[in-house]
Amino acid sequence: MIIEKTFASEEVMRIGFFDSGVGGISVLHEALRQLPNENYIYYADTDHVPYGTKSKEEVKQYVFQAVEVMARVGMKALVVACNTATSIAINELRQQYSFPILGMEPAVKPAVEKNCSKRILVTATPLTLKEEKYQDLVSRLDHAHIVDGVALPELVDYAEKFVFDQNEILEYLKAKLSGFELNQYGTVVLGCTHFQFYRSYFQKLFSGDTDIIDGSTGTINYLRKTLSEREITNSNGKSEICFFSSGKKVEQDHRYRKYLNYLDKKTDLS
Ligand code: DGL
Repeated sequence: MIIEKTFASEEVMRIGFFDSGVGGISVLHEALRQLPNENYIYYADTDHVPYGTKSKEEVKQYVFQAVEVMARVGMKALVVACNTATSIAINELRQQYSFPILGMEPAVKPAVEKNCSKRILVTATPLTLKEEKYQDLVSRLDHAHIVDGVALPELVDYAEKFVFDQNEILEYLKAKLSGFELNQYGTVVLGCTHFQFYRSYFQKLFSGDTDIIDGSTGTINYLRKTLSEREITNSNGKSEICFFSSGKKVEQDHRYRKYLNYLDKKTDLS
């Protein structure tokens, strides 16, 4: 695949966001809020989404292909806005590239720190939950054995298809969670960036005082700190986003903008 430098050198100081598909747009949305003077590249691996039901080897190969393209295009930092890709490839990516690489992992730590009495439910892809990185995280933090996990792979498909029909999504979630006593959970962790579009649906299913948390704010806080420590914060950018879909620059970005608009406009379900 031949990729030319897409930006003039003075514009190369973009921040890259990578996901298997549209999930990372929820993280990019937080970046646009906190860092509006930066410019961005968003790369969705649309040819290979979903990652969460594939093998570790396949996903690793796709992630490396994608990041190689992004690196050639040029960026000053990369956010792997995908819990699944992070769990599979983050350490090796950091060995291969010199720009800062931030990952995402299910927010088990803040959940455990915040909530010591009620149970915690981690929602993620099957691959994330199966991976050693997640298993280690839970065994390090869950001394009281209060963390449960549930894989919701179909929610990735719903998000990719822009399905936000309240009845359909709630029925799906109810069916998947039918084996769980919902009122015993004090915190639900959205451990897949695609699930963040459905925060209000989760909130509707669980009791009003159940916290629904994700890793976006923490990741973007850390990104802000990283840029500032390395003195690579931009103050002249205009929140420009250049979208890529599996190696190809997207000219008509309407499909992606729709998700940003959805997050801007979304109000809680009543
Ligand atoms: N958005 C991704 C995550 O955070 C993966 C979804 C998928 O491709 O299965 O895990």
